[in-house]
Amino acid sequence: MNVTDSAATPFPQSRTCPYHPPAAYPELAAHGPLARVRLYGGREVWAVTGHAEARALLADARISADRRNPAFPVVVPRAERQGEFELPLLGVDDPRHAQQRRMLIPAFGLKRIAAMRPWIQRTVDGLLDAMLAAGPGAELVSAYALPVPSMAICYLLGVPYADHGFFETVSRELIGAQGADEAVAARDKLTGYFRGLIEEKERGAGGPGGLLDELVATPLAEGRLDREELVMMALFLLVAGHETTSNMISLGTFTLLEHPEQLAALRADPGLLPGAVEELLRLLAIADGIVRVAREDIEFHGVTIRAGDGVVFPASVVNRDAAVYADPDALDIRRSARHHVSFGFGVHQCLGQNLARAELEIALSTLFARIPTLRLAVAPDEVPVKPAGTLQGLYALPVTW
Ligand code: HEM
Repeated sequence: MNVTDSAATPFPQSRTCPYHPPAAYPELAAHGPLARVRLYGGREVWAVTGHAEARALLADARISADRRNPAFPVVVPRAERQGEFELPLLGVDDPRHAQQRRMLIPAFGLKRIAAMRPWIQRTVDGLLDAMLAAGPGAELVSAYALPVPSMAICYLLGVPYADHGFFETVSRELIGAQGADEAVAARDKLTGYFRGLIEEKERGAGGPGGLLDELVATPLAEGRLDREELVMMALFLLVAGHETTSNMISLGTFTLLEHPEQLAALRADPGLLPGAVEELLRLLAIADGIVRVAREDIEFHGVTIRAGDGVVFPASVVNRDAAVYADPDALDIRRSARHHVSFGFGVHQCLGQNLARAELEIALSTLFARIPTLRLAVAPDEVPVKPAGTLQGLYALPVTW
C-alpha cells in the first residue's frame, strides 16, 4: 500500500459545508484504508478511513484510549495538558474502564430512556410553546437545540437546571478553548462545581435526585468509586450529554431544511423517523476524529502500526465508505444507515446513544410538526459553522416561520 502520497495532509481541517467533510478528507481514502496525516505540531499519525478497518481497530485491545500515555496524540492545542489527569470512561482502558461503565449502564439503558420519553416530549413542547409565543423568528440553538439536551442530562444526573447558565458557558470554554491553560481553567471551574454538588448530595441536600445520587449512595459509599473519580465522571457526563446532542439538533434541522424533498418524505411518513435520525447521525458525523494510541505493534493491511503511533478515525470519511453505503454523500433517510461510527465503536461506543436518539427523534419530529413553515432566516452560507478540532455544529441558527 502506498501511504506516502497523502503524507502531508493536515488534520483536523475545518468544514466548508457544515454537513460534508472538509474538502481534503475524501482524498485520504483514495490510497486505501490507512493514510498518514499531520497534526498541528508536525507529528504524523495514521488516519483510518475504511469502515471495516475502523471498526476492527476501534475494537482492538492493542489500541489505547489512555490520555496519560505520553505518546497519546495531541490533536489540538487545548489538549496539550490532557496527560495531567485521568479522563474517566473515554480516557481509561479496560479493566478499569469496564468497571466505571458498569456503574452507569442501567441509567442509560433502553428501558430507563424509554421511560424518560414522555418527560422529553413535555420539555420539548414547553420550549416550543415559548418559542412560538415570542416569534415569529428565533435563534434555534439558544431557544431549543441547547436547552433540550441540557435539561435532559440535568434531569438524568440530578443536576439543578437552574445552574445551566454557568455550566453551558464553561463547557463551551472547555470544548472551544484555544490553549491548554484556558481548557484547564474551565475544567477546574467545573470540577469545583461538582465537588460542591456531590458534597451536598452526600449530606442529602444536593438538588433533585438522579444518577449522581445513586452513585453517591452506592459505589461511592461502598468505596468502589472515589470522590475525585465521581467528580470527573459527573463533569464528563454533563459536557458529553449536552454539547453533542445540541449540535446534532441544530445541524440536523439545518440539513433537513436544505433537503426539502427528504423533509417532505419524513413529514408524510413518521415511520421514517428512526431511520432519518440514524442517517443524519451518519452523514453529519459531528464527533469527527476519534483519537487513540497503539500500545503494541500491530500488523494491519500491509503496514506496521508501531507501539506509540497515534491513530485517528475521521468519522465523516469512515461513514462514507462506498463499500458500505451506496451514494454515500447523499442524505437518504430511507437507507439503512446503521453501523455508522458516529457513536464510535468497541468498548468506548457512546454510552448516551439511547438518550441521544430519543432526544433527536422527539426534538426534530416535534419541531417540524408544530412549525410546518419553519425556514432559515438567513442565507445558508451565513449560518456560522464551528471550526475544526471541536464538535462539529453551528454557533447559531436563525430561523423564522
Ligand atoms: C448525538 C449525540 C452524541 C454523539 C454524536 C456522541 C458521540 C460519541 C462518540 C463518537 C463516542 C466515542 C468516542 C471515542 O471512542 O473516543 C462517545 C462516547 C461517549 N458518549 Fe457520546 N455522543 C452523543 C451523545 C451523548 C450523550 C447524550 C451522552 C450522555 C451522557 C454521551 C455520553 C458518552 C460517554 C459517557 C462516552 C464514553 C463511553 C466510554 O468510554 O465507555 N454521549 N460519544
